[in-house]
Amino acid sequence: MAVTGGTRTLPWSWYTDPTVLRLEEERIFRRSWQYAGHAGEVPEPGSFTATRVGGVPLVLVRDEEDTLRAFVNVCRHRGSIVCEGSGKRATLQCPYHAWTYGLDGRLITAPRANREGGLDTSELGLVPLALETWGPFVFVSPDPEPAPLSELLEDVPERVADAGVDVDALRFLQRAESELAANWKICAENFLECYHCPVAHPGFSAVVDVSPDSYLLEIGGRRMSQVGPPRPEPRGAYDPAGEVERGQFHLLFPGTVINVMPGRPNLSIGPIVPVSAERTNRFLDYFVAPDAPQEWIDELLAFDGEVGAEDTTLVERVQEGVRSGLVEDGRLLPESERLVAHFQALVVDALA
Ligand code: FES
Ligand SMILES: [Fe+2]
Repeated sequence: MAVTGGTRTLPWSWYTDPTVLRLEEERIFRRSWQYAGHAGEVPEPGSFTATRVGGVPLVLVRDEEDTLRAFVNVCRHRGSIVCEGSGKRATLQCPYHAWTYGLDGRLITAPRANREGGLDTSELGLVPLALETWGPFVFVSPDPEPAPLSELLEDVPERVADAGVDVDALRFLQRAESELAANWKICAENFLECYHCPVAHPGFSAVVDVSPDSYLLEIGGRRMSQVGPPRPEPRGAYDPAGEVERGQFHLLFPGTVINVMPGRPNLSIGPIVPVSAERTNRFLDYFVAPDAPQEWIDELLAFDGEVGAEDTTLVERVQEGVRSGLVEDGRLLPESERLVAHFQALVVDALA
């Protein structure tokens, strides 16, 4: 299939077909930088936290030299998950037969290895993954030779800084997790247009000016951005007054979402991860300026939570529609949905 970028959507069978998802995992998620968590989760030498990136079980570790590392969280013996949850340890020990790894991933001991021989422990360390950070935000790529993270981020760090958000000063608030009954692409595509905002997000649209002349859409390489100013006279449940003059909503292909709301300095970031062809995991880590008052924080979280709940209904309804199998595909508006078209072209490119 040729890259269209035009007005036809991807075939809707791609939103239910497990074969397509397997290809996407192999050719997209296994080759891309994805948000894995934040530095505050591994605050001191010896801290670890088990997570996943694009479906790969992962452990983030801060080693004795204070260096952040990422390893595939799979034991080299018989494949058990090594670490669960988070905490602080001098070594990482597999709960199955007690193979024990250093914080640098090296296999230190395997019970009975001396007695039985035949094991070259020097070759059996935890498999390392590429890790890079932007401020406190940790990105991991399963690609053994990834392009630098900066190529994916483009000018997002500058734009966030220019908006008055100092990412290194932000305070972590909370992680909001959700599982959606929709293909991961439906979740990403829903994020990439605000054509639905006046219809489906009355609260958001009362605060942010979502009219096509004010709300800007921008396409980079694998970065897709939306910039929305507050309405001249915002009304509603959230007060957008503050040093951040305009909202910025970025998607880094395939599924890292970065939101900055107009108002006081804030940022939320998290991944969109397929669980199966018709289910998706998401989490969003919320950060605010250290001096943000609790009242405003409550307002921000409630406001964002409302938009999130509305989006869940929207994407699950789309999944139900595309699953029917009796309509082949849909149509995209060339202007208002051009980020969706770009996203779909990137998917086609990757799978071609
Ligand atoms: S599977 Fe990990 S020690 Fe056996
Ligand atoms: Fe939405």
